[in-house]
Order: sequence, then C-alpha cells, then structure tokens
Amino acid sequence: MAMLRAAKHAMRSLGSTAPEAAPFSRMLHASPGSKKIVGVFYKANEYATLNPKFVGCVEGSLGIRDWLESQGHQYIVTDDKEGPNCELEKHIHDMHVLITTPFHPAYVTEERIKRAKNLQLLLTAGIGSDHIDLKAAAEAGLTVAEVTGSNVVSVAEDELMRILILVRNFVPGYLQVIKGDWNVAGIAYRAYDLEAKTVGTVGAGRIGKLLLQRLKPFNCNLLYHDRIKMEPALEKEIGAKFEEDLDAMLPKCDIIVINTPLTEKTRGMFNKERIGKLKKGVLIVNNARGAIMDTQAVVDACSSGHIAGYSGDVWNPQPAPKDHPWRYMPNQAMTPHISGTTIDGQLRYAAGVKDMLDCYFKGQEFPAQHYIVKDGKLASQYQ
Ligand SMILES: NC(=O)c1ccc[n+]([C@@H]2O[C@H](COP(=O)([O-])OP(=O)(O)OC[C@H]3O[C@@H](n4cnc5c(N)ncnc54)[C@H](O)[C@@H]3O)[C@@H](O)[C@H]2O)c1
Repeated sequence: MAMLRAAKHAMRSLGSTAPEAAPFSRMLHASPGSKKIVGVFYKANEYATLNPKFVGCVEGSLGIRDWLESQGHQYIVTDDKEGPNCELEKHIHDMHVLITTPFHPAYVTEERIKRAKNLQLLLTAGIGSDHIDLKAAAEAGLTVAEVTGSNVVSVAEDELMRILILVRNFVPGYLQVIKGDWNVAGIAYRAYDLEAKTVGTVGAGRIGKLLLQRLKPFNCNLLYHDRIKMEPALEKEIGAKFEEDLDAMLPKCDIIVINTPLTEKTRGMFNKERIGKLKKGVLIVNNARGAIMDTQAVVDACSSGHIAGYSGDVWNPQPAPKDHPWRYMPNQAMTPHISGTTIDGQLRYAAGVKDMLDCYFKGQEFPAQHYIVKDGKLASQYQ
C-alpha cells in the first residue's frame, strides 16, 4: 500500500537526496516498530458496563486494546476532540494512526494534518469520512479508509422507521401520552398510510438500495436518483424507477430520503430554492449528513409547514450544540447520531477496523471498497 508521507519521511531519515516525488512504496506502509494509535469515540459513562458487546464507545475501545498492546503498540482512546487543550491535540504530533467515528466526529482539518508529522493512516469506524479534510489528506499522502458496508442495514432499517414515524405523525402522539393528554384529532388530522405514496431516494448506493428493498412490500411508488443507474435486473427486482434529473424527481415525491455521502457536490444540496420546489407537505428523512441540507432553509420550511416532517440523526456540527435550531423547529423527529451504531453495527465496524489495522501492520492492501483516499487520490464519488 502506498504512503507518500511515509515514503518522504523514510527518505528523509535515510538522508536520501532523491526528489520528494519518488514513487510510492508499498513496503513503507508496514514500516516496522511500535505504532501510536489514537481512537476518538463517544463516551458511554454509566452505560459502558451494561452490555459486553458495547464496543463502539471510549470504554469499549472497539475491543482491540489487548490485541494492539500485545503487539507492542500504544493505544490512546478519548472522546476529548475539540479545542487547543483537548486530549486529541496532545497526540497529533506523534500519532501514526487515527481512528475516528462519524458518531462523535473528530474534525481532521488541514491544519491538524499539517501538524501530524507521523500520521500515515486515518480509519473511520463506520461509514462517511467527511469529517476529514480529504483533499488535505490526499495532498499529505495519507490513506483514508472506512468500513464500507458495516452499518448499512442498521441505517436502512432506521430510515424505514423514520418514514413510518413521520407518515403516522407518531411523535406528537407519544408526547401527548407522556404529558397526560388524550387528543386523537390532534394526531389524526395529518396521519396517513405509507401505501401508494411516492418515495424518492437521493442516492441509491448500499443504504439506498437496502431501503428500497425494504419499502417494496409497502406498495409505494419508488423512485431513485443517483450518479449511477442500477443494472436493469436489480432495478426490476427492487421495483424502483431511475430519475436522472434530481430536480425532476423531487417535486413528485411525498417522501424524500437522502442517501448520498457529503461531498463538494452534495453539500448544501437542499437549499432554500430547491426546498421551495418540493411538494407542499413533503416529508424528509436524512440519515446521510446534516450539511447536505441548508440548516436555516430546513428550519424555515418546517416552520411554514412546507416540510411537514423532518427526521434524521445527522447534524452539522456534531454533537449538535444546545442552541442548534433543528432541536426547536416544529415538525421534527430528530435524534442524536445513532442509526449506524447499533450493537450489530458496532461489532461489524470494530471487526473491520481490526482487519485493516492488521493489514496495515503486515503491509497488505485493504479491501478496495474501503479506500476513500489512496495514493493521493479521492474515491470517485468524492472527486
Ligand atoms: N447516520 C448514520 O449512522 C450513517 C451510517 C452509515 C452511512 N451514513 C451516510 O450514508 C452515506 C451513504 O452510505 P452508503 O453506504 O449507502 O454509501 P454508498 O457509497 O454505497 O452509496 C452512496 C451513493 O450515493 C451516490 N452519489 C454520490 N454522490 C452523488 C451525487 N452528487 N448525486 C447523486 N448520487 C450521488 C453514489 O453514486 C452511491 O450510489 C454515507 O456516505 C454516510 O454519509 C450514515
């Protein structure tokens, strides 16, 4: 596996006079010796000991501490990721590997990358590496990889739940119950069946396809927009129609689900103008990334009722500050970032991180689909 930064580093230490643009060397990926590995995860506190399979938190540390330490590596794990005096900052200068997670993202900025002189590898425990400045990582010769596919079922199931929660106007009913109220009309005036509604997914990759498959038995009208059209046989099996033009698809939808990564092309994709063209009363589910939406445009459309329901688990930034306007807007069914971190998901992405570290130590390639930045290049959908 190529590591431009490692190559430059090794050449400097060997006193090489060869130009810095020397070919990447796979050998250098597995430079021998003890590595400093830093993991940034969410803290579990009183919940840490309630489930031995709870590996996604600081306390669980992905279940790889003994394995790493038995090989002589150093493993620092923290949730303290922000500000000049945070724990992460103490290790930026000498860490070799940084493991982060989208659920409690350590923002890996260009500035941090420049200071991380020993850094070779950025691993995302989960899917979605937009919290990393990918261009800066590519420029620095770093490898960025995630555990592609690890929690796609977890997210697709959660999206289906959110669709039903919004269609049935569930949250106001739940709130009535805990407040001691009973007002059927207050729920029923805008509760619908899912059957026969038009559902469109923006992005039909792994999660989008799993969602469409799960929606099929509900007898909806299924649409999808993606950079890539599915094979006809799969499209037929899933029963969804391809819409090449996003803006032609969106106004047809009663329910829109976002399933693209956050890239330069999708950032702010749902701005005021685009939201203004959606069906009045549209429902939106977004478990992809908060920054795909214009924050204030969503607040305004939820307040006016143009968006009749907005649900998702992704925010910009994360953790969402106490005054984030999505906490207070009407017609929302938001949660913290939870959909991809079920216990099943955690076990899968922890195993995926362990496998990649093992490959890294042995100088072996990762599964091709895991690479987000490799050899100075971004994966195609991020370009
Ligand atoms: N909330 C969570 O816990 C959670 C968990 C996993 C993933 N996610 C998010 O979901 C995203 C999708 O995950 P996935 O596993 O399905 O990824 P994927 O790579 O399998 O699918 C992404 C799809 O989006 C399409 N796409 C990319 N850019 C596009 C554009 N500009 N226009 C149209 N289509 C575009 C791609 O062609 C691809 O089919 C992740 O990148 C991540 O941001 C969230």
